[in-house]
Amino acid sequence: MDLHDDMLGHPADILAWYLDAGVDEAIGEEPLDRYALVKAAQAQRTAQAEAMLKESRTEQDAKPTPQKPGRGTPAPSLAQVRPADTGVGEEAMKSAVDLAGAAKSLDELREALEGFDGCPLKKTAMNLVFGDGDPDARIVFIGEAPGADEDRQGIPFVGASGRLLDKMIGSIGLQRADVFISNTVFWRPPGNRTPNQGEIAVCLPFVERIIELIDPAVLITVGGPATHSLLAQQGSVSRLRGRWFTYETPRMSHPIAASAIYHPAYLLRTPAQKRQAWSDMLGIKAKLAENP
Ligand code: URA
Repeated sequence: MDLHDDMLGHPADILAWYLDAGVDEAIGEEPLDRYALVKAAQAQRTAQAEAMLKESRTEQDAKPTPQKPGRGTPAPSLAQVRPADTGVGEEAMKSAVDLAGAAKSLDELREALEGFDGCPLKKTAMNLVFGDGDPDARIVFIGEAPGADEDRQGIPFVGASGRLLDKMIGSIGLQRADVFISNTVFWRPPGNRTPNQGEIAVCLPFVERIIELIDPAVLITVGGPATHSLLAQQGSVSRLRGRWFTYETPRMSHPIAASAIYHPAYLLRTPAQKRQAWSDMLGIKAKLAENP
């Protein structure tokens, strides 16, 4: 008997040894290489992480390039903001540009949007949320996207965020009826998710047309998505707020002053930032006074 035989012993002794060690149940017919299972799971996670990284790089590459603020900072081109996989096709983009460009008034623009099926958000929303306020306003606010209350009523900023935005507007002596309010997209994203680049891009010609038709003295972007898409600025609103940019489209005869403010939903979650938000509103008041 060699050492090996001696170590293994009789099968009954081996079973007794297992029993003593608490192993009293046979789980599988075949032995299982758990080290191999762990390795396979690790490989799968690595592959998944690599795929996600690749996807996010594709999205990054498709984002508008940051531009220096200056005279007539151009709106990003549609090709810059639309990644290929957002459910928005070339045809929809072209149709958006044509329909928006043909509208001669806000009523015509709203009508064009009502008949436009190129934004996938329309399929899941209850109502079009076009915009609200004075068609001759001197100031236009563009927010992110309608939420549940806005979707139900077809009017932007009517929920909790809207009530705070009304107060912010009131703080500079204006009322909601004195300004015009809209969003980067005209339908509620399901579950209130952030609209994707394609959804924003296909709505952009209509948003631009709202601004062109109103021709305000001042444009205010409310929150990140509106700031990034309209002002062609990257980075957080906390870094961009309080600064003035210019906004101009090829159809506008002159650039207008534009600035970003915190989204009221963010202020409701982070009341400590309200002081800055109120100071931004005073900056807006001063800018309006400069541009009578
Ligand atoms: N948040 C927005 O950005 N827009 C709305 O219309 C409502 C809430």
